[in-house]
Amino acid sequence: MAEECAPLRGGNMKRIAVLTSGGDGPGLNPCIRAVTRMALHLGVSVTGIQRGYAGLIANDTLELDARSVGGVLGRGGTFLGTARCPEFMTEKGRREALRTLNRLGIDGLVVIGGNGSLTGALQLHKMGFPVLGIPATIDNDVNGTDISIGVDTTLNTILDAIDRIKDTASSHQRAFLIETMGRNSGYLALVSGLSGGAELVLIPEIETPMEKVARIIEDAYIRGKAHCIILVAEGWKPGTRALVDYLKSLQAELGFEIRLTVLGHIQRGGKPSAFDRLLATRLGAAAARLMIEEGVAGKMVGWVGSEIYLTPLDEAVAFQKEISVKLRELAEIMDQ
Ligand code: F6P
Repeated sequence: MAEECAPLRGGNMKRIAVLTSGGDGPGLNPCIRAVTRMALHLGVSVTGIQRGYAGLIANDTLELDARSVGGVLGRGGTFLGTARCPEFMTEKGRREALRTLNRLGIDGLVVIGGNGSLTGALQLHKMGFPVLGIPATIDNDVNGTDISIGVDTTLNTILDAIDRIKDTASSHQRAFLIETMGRNSGYLALVSGLSGGAELVLIPEIETPMEKVARIIEDAYIRGKAHCIILVAEGWKPGTRALVDYLKSLQAELGFEIRLTVLGHIQRGGKPSAFDRLLATRLGAAAARLMIEEGVAGKMVGWVGSEIYLTPLDEAVAFQKEISVKLRELAEIMDQ
């Protein structure tokens, strides 16, 4: 199998493919556009794979030219579609996907997505197919990049929600729990809490007893605050619902009335921010150029210290990126 699709040396590629996989997020369209336009600029044709690895298995593809990626910069989601694909986790599914790539005469594949999608990219690479990954997930939990595509826009969406909730919270003298996405990472809750002026942030990385949450709410009330805003990452244990039940049982002592807002998939939609459009364009263009001109494969094209940074795919997916200790310390000082 490996010989059948041995990596071409840079300069020999005629056609590459691009797909978006896993949970969507703002900035995927600008990234597809950048991969496509850089490849076309270098004289290489581009196939768009629809619905991620599912489309690769099902041979669900379309030709991408300069016009077909026009007008997509400001659109959220992904016009190629995306999916979580259990079939691709099996050897049979991956062989099927490889068959599609070979049948279509594709010389290299760019995968845009988070940890699961990049793990899929690594598996294809191990089967001998030239693959590059680009980190795109609102969770910002991928190693080898300071930030993933989608994170900035999502943070701004959460901040907008915090500002709105503060208005109503102050009018009614209420304490609000605001639940953010992030799977097992507390990054979204921590950074939005820090930039949105939350009284407390609850993240999976730090154990916080529910009694302490109650004390902080009561304390905010006694100190005359108009509201109390608590950001809760969805991965925090024992979970937002358990916390609401506990706090409601203490309602009389807390002063503030308790309300819960779960932001949910609102965080994944919307127009990509300027930062995300630029990041997506830089990473997408770099991936296409590195693959076509230099024959780079088996790497993730990330962003570290304001530069393109390559990380081997196996390192990128080896473990979940940790939140910086300095950010955590800063949040503790600011929560007053
Ligand atoms: O990984 C991105 C993410 O939005 C997580 O933050 C969240 O836990 C998950 O995807 C939700 O997945 P789905 O859209 O499949 O419910």
